[in-house]
Amino acid sequence: MKPVRVGLCGLGTVGSGAVNVLKRNAAEISARAGTDIILQQIGARRDNPACDTSDLAVTRDIFDVARNPDVDVVVELIGGTTVAKELVETAISHGKHVVTANKALIAEHGNELFQLAEAKGVTIAFEAAVAGGIPIIKALREGLSANKIQWLAGIINGTGNFILTEMKNKGRDFADVLKEAQAKGYAEADPTFDVEGIDAAHKLVILASIAFGMPLQFDKIFTEGISAIEPQDLANAEELGYRIKHLGIARQTEQGVELRVHPTLIPRRRLIANVDGVMNAVLVKGDAVGPTMYYGAGAGAEATASAVIADLVDMARMSTAAPESRVAHLGFAAASLREQEILPIEEVTTAYYLRMIIEDHPGVLNKITQILSDSGISIEAVIQKENEEEDEEGEPSPVPLILLTDRAQEKKLLEAVESIEALDVLLGEVTHIRVETLG
Ligand code: HSE
Repeated sequence: MKPVRVGLCGLGTVGSGAVNVLKRNAAEISARAGTDIILQQIGARRDNPACDTSDLAVTRDIFDVARNPDVDVVVELIGGTTVAKELVETAISHGKHVVTANKALIAEHGNELFQLAEAKGVTIAFEAAVAGGIPIIKALREGLSANKIQWLAGIINGTGNFILTEMKNKGRDFADVLKEAQAKGYAEADPTFDVEGIDAAHKLVILASIAFGMPLQFDKIFTEGISAIEPQDLANAEELGYRIKHLGIARQTEQGVELRVHPTLIPRRRLIANVDGVMNAVLVKGDAVGPTMYYGAGAGAEATASAVIADLVDMARMSTAAPESRVAHLGFAAASLREQEILPIEEVTTAYYLRMIIEDHPGVLNKITQILSDSGISIEAVIQKENEEEDEEGEPSPVPLILLTDRAQEKKLLEAVESIEALDVLLGEVTHIRVETLG
């Protein structure tokens, strides 16, 4: 087999990790690929002291790499969706395969890029785009290909998981933990992508399309971040036997597909509830295999480089295969992909955690439970602590009330919350966090 000549664009965290792993493990990687994988050219605006490129051909213009006739595969690690898209299009138009870690690019422009690649007989590989080093794309596209996937749920943003874990375990401040995640190279260039769930939404859209055989539909996903989670919510969840994780959930239902990213209470006894720090995990339920779980580092230089290089090894192995016998981009032959209705969040049914501040008078609890009961929502658990505080007039101070409800449609729950918020005994708004058992 001919060696695979790689043009690597971008020498940031993942790019430098890829150079280091390709050099360090060159012998193992070549032995597995059945041929050498050669770093033919690097395209980067500046060097990165985290890797040594003194023995490599480096250009400051990444488009030189995409047009280089001596490059077979372009590795896009520059991020973003404008220049990166142009780079990938240029590489494809020059007949090159592409490997990318860019989830935003695939989630938002994958449909058109895959079409472009298929027309040119080349492939775009994107294992590193979802859950860092975990081979979840390969598992879904190949390992689980016998199954109807029923649902999947994942912790797919390392930064967010790192923040929630540190807040829960060490009582650390949100902003302080975020700074540490940025210093460690976990966070996105714009960290609001991590904490507001956009990064997880990009990844979930990709997973859901592969799981359910539908085109990518990033504009349909419901996204809620973790910036409103308070330390008291993490503590209350523990008291109720749950843990709060920022999950991406995709579920096939008879009415359509649920596609949502939001903080979620999950039972503490579940394996995934104990996935901490920057680690990611994806639970996939197939009709034949049952529940399966994939766990590993979701961010970081070499963990993500591991997935990039696995794609290069696949490229080497398939280099002699006809395009129609390669694994399809979304695991289903392009002609078999079908649009599916994505359910609006109001139509999704889950259980709920509710937190509110109420005046401490007789009958208040009754008024609130009555509203929920009138909406057909039953209560599973309550936390209300004895109140020993008084204000200046000797009146009892307001107290927090925590409720765990049974499953209800979000539309019904929101109506009930609106009625509760209209009560004069309520101070401020009701916080609601969705609850899933993942059983
Ligand atoms: N910012 C991402 C994360 C990097 O924290 O998971 C990996 O995609």
